[in-house]
Amino acid sequence: MRAVQVTRFGGPEVLRCVEMERPAPISTEVLVRVVAAGVNPVDCKTRRGEGVARWVGPPPFIAGWDVCGMVEAVGYGVTRFSVGDMVYGMPRFPRAAGAYAEYVAAPSRQFARLPDGISPTEAAALPLAALTAWQCLVDTAQIRGGQTVLVHGAGGGVGHLAVQIAKAHGTRVVATSRHDRDALQSHDVDVALDLVGGLDTRELIATVRHGGLLLAVADGADDGVKAEAKRCGVRVEEPLVEPDGHALEEIAKLVRSGTLKVTVQETLPLEQAAAAHERLERGGVRGKLVLEVAHD
Ligand SMILES: NC(=O)c1ccc[n+]([C@@H]2O[C@H](COP(=O)([O-])OP(=O)(O)OC[C@H]3O[C@@H](n4cnc5c(N)ncnc54)[C@H](OP(=O)(O)O)[C@@H]3O)[C@@H](O)[C@H]2O)c1
Repeated sequence: MRAVQVTRFGGPEVLRCVEMERPAPISTEVLVRVVAAGVNPVDCKTRRGEGVARWVGPPPFIAGWDVCGMVEAVGYGVTRFSVGDMVYGMPRFPRAAGAYAEYVAAPSRQFARLPDGISPTEAAALPLAALTAWQCLVDTAQIRGGQTVLVHGAGGGVGHLAVQIAKAHGTRVVATSRHDRDALQSHDVDVALDLVGGLDTRELIATVRHGGLLLAVADGADDGVKAEAKRCGVRVEEPLVEPDGHALEEIAKLVRSGTLKVTVQETLPLEQAAAAHERLERGGVRGKLVLEVAHD
């Protein structure tokens, strides 16, 4: 099969399209014939030797986590899917998943069925970003009607989905983009979702009410942020997204009802993964970039 390998840590030029052995599913795994693979900032960070590189291990490895495709084979013990089902997921994270490839083998319960009314390309844009938003807002923050949620970096992959998930739960949403940071002057928000990081993480503490929650998604929280948050009575969490087939089913329900729409700004062929990384690292992408996988 064809796959895009990180050949060594470095810039987008280290991504190479290579021929390699197709993976074989072991018990409890499905083999997915990939139709599309989503591109996320963590793909770029890990390619540079940052991100989750410490858990992926040294190159060469196949890049990527987000995947949508058709079940080609099932291992012993798989009861939820059959050959021919269309599925989407973000398997194995933060270990390598090898999503930038023609085939991926991974645990079946880390996938969900493709929602109706959405293309494989759109579905491939969802898992990592939507699971991050879901796990932060629904699982950790347990948002509910009447609360106010601040989404910092709302135009990007996680942000545009977080805004919709927060609204679907009846919260009031205030949001920033690179060109409109007025919401950073907010006070007394219940939950702040930091998708930008850097010095902004500390700035966000002042927006959160006493007893509220700051989710430091982008860069985590350093000791200075933690000390300042403690002084202000603000809880800080440093989430790391996890594979979660059950949450993907909940996300699929929102997609099916028309409540959650993913924006794919651009699609590129798998072979142009390096161009996709360059594009994402340059900034200014609205929503997501997706690689499409052609099969001979
Ligand atoms: N901890 C986890 O489990 C986890 C999971 C998912 C993502 N992440 C991290 O969270 C961050 C966001 O992920 P993503 O997929 O949403 O990335 P993304 O698609 O690149 O979105 C980031 C958004 O933030 C905006 N932004 C950048 N600088 C800003 C500033 N100074 N003020 C306001 N907005 C600004 C960007 O605008 P421009 O495009 O115009 O720069 C972009 O719209 C990344 O660092 C990613 O690695 C962490």
